[in-house]
Amino acid sequence: MIYLDNAATTLIKPDSVIEAVVSAMKTQGNASRGAHGATLTASRTVYDARVKIAKFFNFDKPSNVVFTCNSTEALNIVISGLINDGDHVVSTDTEHNSVLRPLYHLRDTKNIDLQFVKANEKGILCISDFEKIISKKTKVVVVNHISNLTGNVNDIKKISDIAHDAGAVLIVDGSQSAGTMNVDVKALGIDVYCFTGHKGLFGPQGTGGLLVRDGIEIEPFKRGGSGVQTYNEDQPKEYPTRLEAGTLNSHGIAGLSAAIDFISEVGVINIHKKEVELTKYFYDAVMKIDGVKVYGDFSDFDNHAAIVSLNVKDYDSGEVADALSNDYGIATRSGAHCVPRLHIALGTKNQGAVRFSFSYFTTYEELDVAIGALKEIAS
Ligand SMILES: Cc1ncc(COP(=O)(O)O)c(C=O)c1O
Repeated sequence: MIYLDNAATTLIKPDSVIEAVVSAMKTQGNASRGAHGATLTASRTVYDARVKIAKFFNFDKPSNVVFTCNSTEALNIVISGLINDGDHVVSTDTEHNSVLRPLYHLRDTKNIDLQFVKANEKGILCISDFEKIISKKTKVVVVNHISNLTGNVNDIKKISDIAHDAGAVLIVDGSQSAGTMNVDVKALGIDVYCFTGHKGLFGPQGTGGLLVRDGIEIEPFKRGGSGVQTYNEDQPKEYPTRLEAGTLNSHGIAGLSAAIDFISEVGVINIHKKEVELTKYFYDAVMKIDGVKVYGDFSDFDNHAAIVSLNVKDYDSGEVADALSNDYGIATRSGAHCVPRLHIALGTKNQGAVRFSFSYFTTYEELDVAIGALKEIAS
């Protein structure tokens, strides 16, 4: 199989990640529960992972690195734990359902005042629209770093400046940026960064988390065992325990920790550079095929993710993806990609789109097969 669905999840993982999970399953007890050797092994693994993740994102408080099972859970925790009845919340047309559905739920149950920055026909969000919509009444701004459909990268620093001038908190959905580009949460002015472990970070599924800037008080989403303060009737107030009730996925976290080591050794900048080159190679070739239409803003490849979504003539995107899979052994993702508002903005609600997404492990030979397949389908 030629796997070009890395924006959904990376399939090829470094061997060290797989070995770390296997070793953790053989050696780790329950992190933060007691003080025997096996539990201490797990506790150390989890603590080391917090430290590495903080360093990786240039975030200065490892204890405010909270583990979740994916970015959907991280986003639900922060959205439900920060937004209250009647709050004004700004988000965008380019968001994933992991942001939209929690926000719609609050709109319907807590009567929040929810406004969206519109995307244009290339899926671009204009900074001037953020300036128009964000005001002193805005409590929270939620925006993705990179669109999982177009691969467009949002200007988080500018959005952060606008949000902070208005006194709002900025939550960033980093599902597509973590591991695929250099993310410096301090320089970008991010208050809460949500990430998932199984995509660009090359970690196992079931891992993810959020980085919570000091001073941001998120109400717990769940309450329960924490291994500390057992006689406290409340969930402990301190991060990370405040948001981490229940046994952690320390086996997965061991894998995520090894994945961060791998990326740090290769260099996230080198990973991004290789992905940029692959994307440019594929984009330039498919743009020459009659009947292929590509979505998104490709004016600056250095500032674009390894994602190319396209359609062939008026063919249903599902049928094209099926042909790619059945006739050529190429895995892509068709349909709506959990981004309903963005498909509407791009005019692809009915057709959907076929998304090709690459990783550091994708080869030019694989891209050549995909380009050849698209030529045949289009002709
Ligand atoms: C932009 C974006 N947000 C959120 C998610 C949800 O990620 P997960 O399923 O790992 O929670 C995805 C995954 O496709 C995504 O691309």
